[in-house]
Amino acid sequence: MASQVDALYFFLVGLTTFFSLLIFSVLIFFVLKYRRRSPYEVPRPIAGSIKLETLWSVIPFIIAMGIFVWGTSIFFSMSRPPDDALEVYVVGKQWMWKVQHSTGQREINELHVPVNRRVKLIMTTEDVIHDFFVPAFRMKADVVPGRYTQEWFEATKVGRYHLFCAEYCGTNHSGMGGWITVMEPTDYEAWLSGNANQKSPVAQGQELFSQTLGCASCHGANGEGGRGPSLINLFGQSQALEGGQNVIADESYIRESILNPQAKIVAGYKPIMPTFQGQVSEEQLLQLITYIKSLSPSKTSGISTTAPARENNPRTGPATPEAMGAKNPNEQRSNPVGSTPPHTNQAGQGSPR
Ligand code: CUA
Repeated sequence: MASQVDALYFFLVGLTTFFSLLIFSVLIFFVLKYRRRSPYEVPRPIAGSIKLETLWSVIPFIIAMGIFVWGTSIFFSMSRPPDDALEVYVVGKQWMWKVQHSTGQREINELHVPVNRRVKLIMTTEDVIHDFFVPAFRMKADVVPGRYTQEWFEATKVGRYHLFCAEYCGTNHSGMGGWITVMEPTDYEAWLSGNANQKSPVAQGQELFSQTLGCASCHGANGEGGRGPSLINLFGQSQALEGGQNVIADESYIRESILNPQAKIVAGYKPIMPTFQGQVSEEQLLQLITYIKSLSPSKTSGISTTAPARENNPRTGPATPEAMGAKNPNEQRSNPVGSTPPHTNQAGQGSPR
């Protein structure tokens, strides 16, 4: 996106410079040319010129509309992530960026991506508003509590690029940054398999759904249990609600249905689901959403990469589903990058101003 943003930016700078110089030159020229030459001089009266006034209204109008169309088209391509993008989940927290790849790898204040590949970030925050800003990619978006924001990029050059938090978020706001590492595809594959000791978010979401939180007893993916609607092929579809309204089943809808299940009741079902507010962290919510998305294969492109998510790892041994299913779900808390309990704001910790 950088070349497009820069082209528009330099056009605006050039345009502003041109008109500033033009106006000041003409101003100085007229001041000299029409200066009062004798103390008794009476200037010749000047009538308006329709031709001139039309010209200096129409030309700026065309220029302004041109900038508007140009800027809007860049804005649209920035704000519409392509379908084939690699999905990466980002959770902001005072004062760090927690990243999870769709193949399970976790990072803090670091993001490794392959070069020439579109990457989509699905972002939220555990506490206050932060802002994910990568100047080299001309990419900047707020992360807002209780909401998912997305941004995407395609890095075209291998290298390390600085990442900042661009929203004042408390004492260590200035330290809340990191690096995006853009790698050759082969290096990236090596990096992925070297860090493949984490379960994918889909597997973690499934474990939460069917074991830890026990959602499946009322609400099986296919509607087993009978008390909740089926989740197969739900994502991205229009869902009919009690009261005749419809809602598109996107990330925010799924999140709301977990935290505030009474807000939107699916037609034909009763408002019996308890809230899971306070029981699931932002990262677990993202894992649940990823799992529910994975039940709608047609809607979730870009989830898979060619690198295997779970390989035999020297540290953890063979990662068989049995071995992972038998794991204590609390075990992931021992991971420093693991899920953290929902944030409780302490006094004096600094809230955004
Ligand atoms: Cu996070 Cu500033």
